[in-house]
Amino acid sequence: MKTIAVVNQKGGQGKSILVCQLAFFLALAKNKRVAVIDADEQGSISTTLRKYVAEGNYAHTFFGAKPIEVQGDGMLVPFVSNDVEMRKVEKMDDELQLDANKRLLLPPIVQNLKNRLADISGAFDWCLIDTPGSNSKVPNAALIAADFVLVPSVIDPYSLPVVVKVLQRVWNVKKHLNPKLELIGVLPNQFKASDKEMGKHLSQLLAMYKDHVLPTAISNRASMPLAADNGIPIWKVPQTAAREATKEVRAAFELIGTKVGGF
Ligand SMILES: Nc1ncnc2c1ncn2[C@@H]1O[C@H](COP(=O)(O)OP(=O)(O)OP(=O)(O)O)[C@@H](O)[C@H]1O
Ligand SMILES: [Mg+2]
Repeated sequence: MKTIAVVNQKGGQGKSILVCQLAFFLALAKNKRVAVIDADEQGSISTTLRKYVAEGNYAHTFFGAKPIEVQGDGMLVPFVSNDVEMRKVEKMDDELQLDANKRLLLPPIVQNLKNRLADISGAFDWCLIDTPGSNSKVPNAALIAADFVLVPSVIDPYSLPVVVKVLQRVWNVKKHLNPKLELIGVLPNQFKASDKEMGKHLSQLLAMYKDHVLPTAISNRASMPLAADNGIPIWKVPQTAAREATKEVRAAFELIGTKVGGF
């Protein structure tokens, strides 16, 4: 099992909506076994993936000391957010310490997550972690435990400075705490090709971070929230307009596949 953390400390960038679609894509189009951890107390994923939920699979248990016992045996298994418990996770100690030999000791929030991912690794091909839109303990733990990180971002003047910060955090985590972490890239989302200002902002981002921005984009499409509301893959949205969205989403996911060694 490989783990993809979907991270951006700014809210409203499309993390949750894309995690759900990526989960559908992997489980239903690629026939992979997928665990989805809704590590955000808002529980967006838990709502969209409601039809797949088996009682007893909770996101907060990944930050605890008890081994995970997976309930249900579907291809797509959501671990839902219990807001009270996820808030408690955010209060866990995340101080890094050194042992007597000056080796780094990971705090329980991170070590538990690594151990719990190991518990389920035989049962799944992919694990997707949706994280809250904050620079806080849960997303940072996900970065330290994951194999890959995807950074969806809206291309606007408020979002881009935040993307720069997220990239720097990813590289810091990779350098000091999780050398195996690979950046899949920034995925431009809610893009409007007709918006000249947006085009200008994307060019600016590419000028700075060409190698770290995926050469693709997902447009702003009404069929995306429609799919999320109905808890269905984008390709099952009946409107004709969903065809273009489906093409784009699939192209983006196939590209992501090439970055993670194949889906
Ligand atoms: N490509 C898109 N086209 C249209 N609407 C979109 C698209 N991507 C996201 N949205 C909408 O934008 C809003 C924010 O998306 P989402 O909740 O996935 O962001 P998020 O990064 O998970 O936010 P948070 O950090 O608050 O959890 C949602 O209402 C979603 O339906
Ligand atoms: Mg979200």
